[in-house]
Amino acid sequence: EELTFSGIQPTGTIHLGNYLGAIRNWVAMQDEGNCIFCVVDLHAITIPQVPEELRSHIREIAAALIACGLDPDKVILFRQSQVSAHAELWWILNSIASMGWLNRMTQFKQKAGKDQAEASVGLFAYPVLQAADVLTYKTTHVPVGEDQRQHIELARDIAMRFNTIYATEFFPLPEAVIPKDAARVMSLVSGQTKMSKSDQDDNSRINLLDDPSLISEKIARACDGLGEISGSQEDLATSPKAENLVRIYAALAQEDVGKVVEEFGGSATERFQRALADRLVAELSPISQEFQRLLSDKAHLDRILAAGADKARSIADPILDDVYDIIGMSRRS
Ligand code: TYM
Repeated sequence: EELTFSGIQPTGTIHLGNYLGAIRNWVAMQDEGNCIFCVVDLHAITIPQVPEELRSHIREIAAALIACGLDPDKVILFRQSQVSAHAELWWILNSIASMGWLNRMTQFKQKAGKDQAEASVGLFAYPVLQAADVLTYKTTHVPVGEDQRQHIELARDIAMRFNTIYATEFFPLPEAVIPKDAARVMSLVSGQTKMSKSDQDDNSRINLLDDPSLISEKIARACDGLGEISGSQEDLATSPKAENLVRIYAALAQEDVGKVVEEFGGSATERFQRALADRLVAELSPISQEFQRLLSDKAHLDRILAAGADKARSIADPILDDVYDIIGMSRRS
């Protein structure tokens, strides 16, 4: 049976990369059923968090996901720390994954920086927890942005090794589902690094909750100095900044990049700039209003997450019971 699972960290705000790379696809998949989406708070603490800020970020991310169109009546929406199966399976999978596999993870290298000895053990084992997230539900499909591809490959490797060691076909091999145009939304400033929550420069990203005038300002700044949008896709590729903006437009309009180039290529950027800002505002301002409304009732959000956790547990627990049996332990008392 098919099951879709994905997660997002409750650190900072949601930006256009999260939205186009992942969340918008989650919303599109929800009508097909069997979808589980998780606010991964256990992942967040692999780098230091202030408890009160973490508490509000968790609610904010949940509110943002619902504001983007996820319907808690159609999908299971919950927070990772409320379902203990994730952490339990993590430990078991830590004993399956090898140090060599984890040493190859590029995200760890980026996040740990130069001084890897100072990084937490949790940050190193982060991808194994992600594998546990996915495998706890026998997930088949994982909708994510390109930056998560390597982690999903690792989850497959871990599942395969588990199946081999215990001579079973217990875990299906999860597949990454990565969008075509917005798989990797880049910084508006450089066009060469990933749009990210941790970039110091707020002009590098569009946040889901930026107001219309700020969005227009950021897009104007991003288009400044571009001259014109080139009339061919090959030429466009020589300007990473312009290419990124055109890809964002294409993803928003759900059009081919070629068509966008045809429409705006060879003319001054102003028309493109205005069209892009208009599209962004049209897409994001209803989300931002709904977000504010949802956030005004925190008890309601907490109830949604608690109900989601109950449903998640009812799927995860029997699977984890089986895992314990397979490896020679017993979780059922
Ligand atoms: P996170 O919280 O960094 O990002 C959430 C989702 O947004 C996507 N994304 C992007 N897509 C396109 N362009 C960008 N610039 C961009 N930035 C972020 C990410 O690919 C992701 O899909 N480790 C994961 C969370 C996680 C998870 C999981 C995902 C934990 N367990 C199990 C899938 C399955 C992360 O840090 O995502």
